[in-house]
Amino acid sequence: MSAGALRVLIPSEQIQQRVRALGEQIDADYPEGPVYMISILKGSFIFLADLARVLKRHSVRIEFMGISSYGQEKTSSGQVKVTRDLDTNIEGHDVLIVEDIIDSGFTLNYLTRLLAQRKPKSLEIVTLLDKPERRVQPVHVKYTGFQIPDEFVVGYGLDYAEDYRNLKDICVLSE
Ligand code: PRP
Repeated sequence: MSAGALRVLIPSEQIQQRVRALGEQIDADYPEGPVYMISILKGSFIFLADLARVLKRHSVRIEFMGISSYGQEKTSSGQVKVTRDLDTNIEGHDVLIVEDIIDSGFTLNYLTRLLAQRKPKSLEIVTLLDKPERRVQPVHVKYTGFQIPDEFVVGYGLDYAEDYRNLKDICVLSE
């Protein structure tokens, strides 16, 4: 399938414009203190890099966490596990979980419950993409880049079997 057909869904310029708007919202919502941005590997690494760089504030902490639920398949198994935990204490801090996409909601439903136990001052989600019609488990999302239809997308960090993450645009991959 790595030779599948690609169709641009969201071009790079539109992504960058939306990322700038999200950054302005985040800067306005957190006027004081550091914001801990937790990138959920691997898909969110490009979004995090762009989002962090449009923020005007200097007090941004970048953290990484590994979560796995898909394996090599196209659909979530619902079996969520932490593959790499944070190496910092988030207690008492403003925390933003940075995701590339929310699909079934299994990953973020699990992750928000896990991180809430660590007593952050605040805990919110910023996702570049959301497929609301695919939701199985509820997730409260404060910042969404784009709501998209139920199509398999790759690029700008998102993969299929580890390919396509380097595309600048978000594309639909079809057989
Ligand atoms: C994707 C995405 C989310 C999750 C969302 O990660 O980054 O973490 O799936 O799906 P859900 O809402 O159905 O739980 P994936 O497991 O593909 O890993 P990757 O980011 O390393 O590609």
